[in-house]
Amino acid sequence: MAVTQGAQVLVASNRGPVSYTVEDDGSLRARRGGGGLVSGLSAIGPDAGALWVCSVLSDGDREAVRRGVGEDGVRMLDVPADVHADAYNGIANSVLWFVHHMLYQTPLEPVFDAEFRRQWASYEAYNRAFAEALAEEAARGAAVLVQDYHLTLVPGMLRELRPDLRIAHFSHTPWAPPEYFAMLPDDIARQVLRGMLGADRLGFLTHRWADAFTACCERFAGGLGDTRVGVHGLGADADFLRARSHEADVEERITTLREEIGEGRRAIVRVDRTELSKNIVRGLLAYRQLLDDRPEWRERVVHVAFAYPSRQDLAVYRDYTAEVRRLADEINERYGTPGWRPVVLHVKDDFARSLAAYRLADVALVNPIRDGMNLVAKEVPVVSDAGCALVLSREAGAHEELGEDALTVNPYDVVETARALDEALRMAPGERAERTKRLAAAATALPPERWFLEQLEALRDGPVSR
Ligand code: G6P
Repeated sequence: MAVTQGAQVLVASNRGPVSYTVEDDGSLRARRGGGGLVSGLSAIGPDAGALWVCSVLSDGDREAVRRGVGEDGVRMLDVPADVHADAYNGIANSVLWFVHHMLYQTPLEPVFDAEFRRQWASYEAYNRAFAEALAEEAARGAAVLVQDYHLTLVPGMLRELRPDLRIAHFSHTPWAPPEYFAMLPDDIARQVLRGMLGADRLGFLTHRWADAFTACCERFAGGLGDTRVGVHGLGADADFLRARSHEADVEERITTLREEIGEGRRAIVRVDRTELSKNIVRGLLAYRQLLDDRPEWRERVVHVAFAYPSRQDLAVYRDYTAEVRRLADEINERYGTPGWRPVVLHVKDDFARSLAAYRLADVALVNPIRDGMNLVAKEVPVVSDAGCALVLSREAGAHEELGEDALTVNPYDVVETARALDEALRMAPGERAERTKRLAAAATALPPERWFLEQLEALRDGPVSR
């Protein structure tokens, strides 16, 4: 939708708040997404003149744009499918995601060849499409909030087109330390940093990521210049989660889940996208270790693992998904008995079932190799029925806020993780409930609406640097 007077607040992200599918009868069905940004943006109300610029991600989205179907306040960019594939799969998810999550390991190391350069040109074109759309839609002096590693070049490009705008960029991922970031070709590293430094203000989820970014700028870009850096640790949306987790569909799934777990058994729960950085395989290995080291838990515990498909266009993600399934089956074959399935693995995305698992969990396992924040760690304590012990990787951004009441693990160490699972299962109910209460308070310190407003205020209050 074009805003006649220009929008006062603009959000730009790869994935937008709505997506479309073409139904069998040819009609379009819209599905609205959730997440921090959607709830955050609602804080400024429907009359604030906000516009969300996002990309077409599916055939349904493309068809919606072609038919002129859309929602007020959302503009989908019809980026050519091959340009999007190169920018999103090739550069954003294969290179930048891997660098920031430090996922490259032998033999899976990057090769920055001519194909990479070709994909990089698409990444530039993709970013330019966003910058041009934002420049076209923004009112004079408007605030533009650019999101994430897909769009690192947008602030710099937009600054050139529209020096009057106030521009922010927020990273939802970790940021790599300079010695790892240095893996990128020098000119690309500089381009990413300079692109981001086109913003007036940059936001990160934790101090650790903000410091890493600053260190990269010192090493590759001669410092931060006029750009200010701030930390906004997105919290869980308590009101929404508590209400949603008591709706009828969640109650139904609680009944089913209780049957799958079995009477009187404990549940170790994890909920993730099937994502290399989430470390699901080592989570399963730790659970297997627990059953080996502590046979007394056999038949008395179930690992409820929800691993929802993600980025399946990438072979490495498909392989990882297969490995998760293989290992879950192997554990079930090796330890299972007629009345006990040790691992209950579900791969079909179902938010109501995730909430049901949060409510029932005795232990939540959140063991990423590296994670910008990890909202599961923050959501579980908020909706838990009877208190839940949290086993948490020290490498999750959430650890900065939740570390004191969680059981901290090194995500690579499956023996330590198995021990932490054992300790979590043994934690006395009183202590568990007390810790859960404190975790929930820390997890909700900055709910999405305030998280969003804080960024907007910081952008508005700051000096106009140019
Ligand atoms: C991470 C990114 C988000 C992204 C999400 C899901 O959290 O920071 O920007 O939306 O993963 O990934 P996807 O590739 O499905 O959008």
